[in-house]
Amino acid sequence: MQTRKTQSSPKTKIIVVINQKGGTGKTTLSFHLAHAGLEGAQSKVLCLDMDSQGTLSQYLTDNLDVTSIVQGGVGDLFEGAPAQPQKTTHPRIDLLHGHRELDRYDFDETAEERAYSGEMSDLLRSLGYDYIVIDVPPAVGLRHLSPLRWADIVVIPLEPSMAAITGFQNVLGVMDESISAANPKVKWVGVMNRANMRVKAHREKDAWMRETYGNRILATLSTRAAVAEAMEESPARPVWSHGGAPKELRDQWREVCAEIVGR
Ligand SMILES: Nc1ncnc2c1ncn2[C@@H]1O[C@H](COP(=O)(O)OP(=O)(O)O)[C@@H](O)[C@H]1O
Ligand SMILES: [Mg+2]
Repeated sequence: MQTRKTQSSPKTKIIVVINQKGGTGKTTLSFHLAHAGLEGAQSKVLCLDMDSQGTLSQYLTDNLDVTSIVQGGVGDLFEGAPAQPQKTTHPRIDLLHGHRELDRYDFDETAEERAYSGEMSDLLRSLGYDYIVIDVPPAVGLRHLSPLRWADIVVIPLEPSMAAITGFQNVLGVMDESISAANPKVKWVGVMNRANMRVKAHREKDAWMRETYGNRILATLSTRAAVAEAMEESPARPVWSHGGAPKELRDQWREVCAEIVGR
């Protein structure tokens, strides 16, 4: 087991990236937040890939087949088995990978009890990481809802579209109804992503979100080819380490992610 220490580490910050709408940038942002967590001198980051598509796991391991390893990984948490984080392409980022059979936990009552018990967040914090970044699947179920209970901060990426705004509002609704009592200290931020400010509808939706939610909408990130290119390199890398990315883009992503991990 690749853990630094066994005692509970109160300084672990658990960051959950969530939106019911697919394609808003959850996995991209999770990947970048994990790397932003490394800015501290020797800090260590654990990523949890809750998505059965396992895209974050593929990016972090540079191995497309990682999702066919249906034992271990994040499933161990739901099984009540000891977590056994694996190495990634970055020496200070570990991973509990996602795989194609994770859906089975969504209908498993024992897994549900485990995931919703207060012990899960204690267990995660006992692994000794400075940051735990959790990439959550869009489908509402155990793997989508339970991480909200464990979170210190919930990050909701959205696009300037009706569906993504609805997804964003649904997350806030769930947090209000069923999370705030169990996890009253949880904070949240929204990140507008994949915006094209040349499109009037995007400008209007971005402005509406800011009027409605104020500075809880932390940033507006545009659709930029360099972001996708950086992720598709082998191995994937954050856009601020991608040679082809313009400086203002690198700076913006680094600042936004640093701001989130620093909260
Ligand atoms: N700001 C951005 N600019 C360009 N492409 C982006 C940006 N954010 C995300 N993408 C791309 O959009 C697609 C969906 O992003 P992803 O992070 O996989 O979303 P999700 O995990 O929410 O489904 C990916 O191909 C990703 O590379
Ligand atoms: Mg994803």
